Order: sequence, then structure tokens, then C-alpha cells
Amino acid sequence: MASSRLPKVFAVKAIPPAGLARLRQHCQVTVNEKKGWPTREDLLQGVRGMDALFVFPFVKIDREVLDVAGPQLKIVATHSVGLEHIDLELCKERGIKVSYTPDVLTTATAELAVSLVLATARRLDECFCAVKEGVWGTCWENSLWLLGKQISGSVVGIVGLGRIGLAIAKRLAAFEVSKIVYTGRTPRPESAAAVGAEFVSFDELCKQSDFVVASCSVNESNKNLFNREAFKKMKPTSIFVNVARGVIVDQEALYEALASGEIGAAGLDVTNPEPLPPSDPLLTLPNCLIVPHIGSLTDTTRKIMCDLVVDNILAGVEGRPIISPAF
Ligand code: NDP
Ligand code: DGY
Repeated sequence: MASSRLPKVFAVKAIPPAGLARLRQHCQVTVNEKKGWPTREDLLQGVRGMDALFVFPFVKIDREVLDVAGPQLKIVATHSVGLEHIDLELCKERGIKVSYTPDVLTTATAELAVSLVLATARRLDECFCAVKEGVWGTCWENSLWLLGKQISGSVVGIVGLGRIGLAIAKRLAAFEVSKIVYTGRTPRPESAAAVGAEFVSFDELCKQSDFVVASCSVNESNKNLFNREAFKKMKPTSIFVNVARGVIVDQEALYEALASGEIGAAGLDVTNPEPLPPSDPLLTLPNCLIVPHIGSLTDTTRKIMCDLVVDNILAGVEGRPIISPAF
């Protein structure tokens, strides 16, 4: 096929070379190679006249973007399971397909959530700093120095027992926890039965849990769900882990809860905004461990995710059914 007739794809930021090479066998691909997130201007310029968009979370695909892209746009393919950055209703209305990457990143994200539970429970960040800073010898005589929390025997609360929440619950169950509770908009009896989890209200989950793990999708029901009242309900020893999205947390309230000892510690893979500015007060707290949104960032998972996005785009532009439709 002559190159002028190849479907046009715009990638809003750099994509792995293998995925790009596969796409280029069938499509004319433009990549926004600029470092960091694309500016709105670059995004609007890039999408014009495209048949497919290869997108990532935090890059808003809204009415203006779809209007500028034009009526030939066939598919918006996101390299994520989160869909909150895309106007799904409008895409549906206009017959634009939307694909995402469910399931393939569940294991990697669950493993990261468990890592955050373990790292915060045993204060690994503080431990590593103590060794590096040479205070090990001077504090070791105190037998309670860097005292951690045990996972066995604890109550684990999962906020959002979906694919990732269930995978986290299964892994934490292996640590011989005493109980798993979960919450959501609706009970999920089948998933709950797989891990013996009990459905409770959000308030009850906050009260009962030693570890509160957020793994929900984002929607209007849970923006700032973790606010002052929520942290007040938790135990002073509770550990809060978030692998969902930063917008479900009132970060000022989290800072106050951690600084005042209202809760014990936090482990965050996601923040608001991302990246979190180095001047953010949360970064001054020894009991707050923050990693840069690495949930799905393993070699195997990222390869599969990219392959899936490419397969969806190729199906979308060729008029075949897409593999993982968002609706
Ligand atoms: P699922 O759709 O399988 O699960 C989402 C869960 O969230 C459902 O159980 C849903 O239950 C629940 N939920 C929605 N609203 C609420 C609420 N208000 N309170 C409690 N639970 C709620 O999605 P996945 O498990 O595959 O992914 C979940 C999210 O994890 C993604 O949307 C994404 O934001 C995030 N994620 C983060 C990653 C990272 O790198 N840190 C990697 C991958 C995903 P119900 O509908 O019954 O309320
Ligand atoms: C997702 O898939 O939603 C993650 O946040 C990015 O991997």
C-alpha cells in the first residue's frame, strides 16, 4: 500500500521501540517525542486528521480533542486499564472505538501493592536511610528501634475488589491475615468468596482495618474519598496504601493524618498531581513512602500492554472487532 494511504496513528508520548516498529509496518505513525507529558497545544496539533490515537492516563481525550481530530478518527487506544482520562460517552456517541488494557497488568500492580504493604509495615525506607546515614550502630541498643508491624493476624481492607483488588487480597491472604474486608458500590460475592472477604461499608472498613488498600477505579463517587473524616476513623497504627489514583485522596488531610500520628504510615504509587513536585510536604514525612506510579512497570507486563494496544489499533483501523473494548 502506498504510504499516503496507510492509516494515520498519533502516539501522545514515546512508546516502546518494538511496539512502534510493529505499528509502522501497517500505519503511518507520528510520535510526540518531547520529554514529559504532551502540552495541550502539542496534543491538539498531533491528533488532527488521525485514524487512531495511542494514549496514556492523564492525557485528557475530551470533546475538543475529538473535534480537532476529526470525523475519520476510528479508535482511541489507551495504554492503561484506567479510563478516566477519556470521554467515553462522547466516543460511544460518535462511533469511535475505545480500547484499554485490563487483566494483563493485574499481577504486576498487585505485586506492587503488596510491596508497598510490606515496605511500609517494616519501614524499609527508614531502615535503608538509617544504614546509609550511619546511625545503625548508635540506635541499635534500643530494642524497639524501627519497630515494624506484622501482617499475619492483621485485618486487611480492600477498597475496590475488582481485578486488581482481588489479586491483592489473594496475595495478602497468604500472609495469614486474620480477616479481609472490602467495600465498593456493590457487593461482589463471587470474588469475595475466593478470599473469604466480608463486604462492609467504607466507614466500617476504615475502622476495622490495619491495612487499608485502595485499588478502585475512579468515578464521581470516590473523588477525595480518603478525606479528614476517613483518616479520623482509621486506627493510629493503620497503614494506607494507594495503587488506584491520587484524586481519591485529599492529600492535605493525608499529610495531617500522617504528621499528627492519626494513622501510622502510607505507601503511595499514585498521587495528585503526577509527577508530585519535590517540594510537596508529603515528601518530608518519614512515614510516607512514595513511588512514581510503577504499578504495571515490569518487563513482562509492559511488553504485553504495548502489544495489546498495537493489536487494538490495528484491529480498529482495519475495521475488525477490537480485542479489549472499553464498552
Ligand atoms: P476493575 O474495574 O476490575 O475494578 C475496579 C473496582 O473499583 C471495582 O471493584 C469497583 O467496584 C470499585 N469501585 C468503583 N468505585 C468505587 C468506590 N466508590 N468505592 C469502592 N470501590 C469502588 O479495575 P482494575 O482492578 O483492573 O483496576 C482498578 C484501578 O486501578 C484502575 O481503574 C486504575 O485507576 C488503577 N490502576 C493503577 C495502576 C498503577 O500503576 N498504580 C495499574 C493499573 C490500574 P464497584 O463498581 O462495585 O464499586
Ligand atoms: C493503569 O493502567 O491505569 C495504570 O495506572 C497505568 O499502567
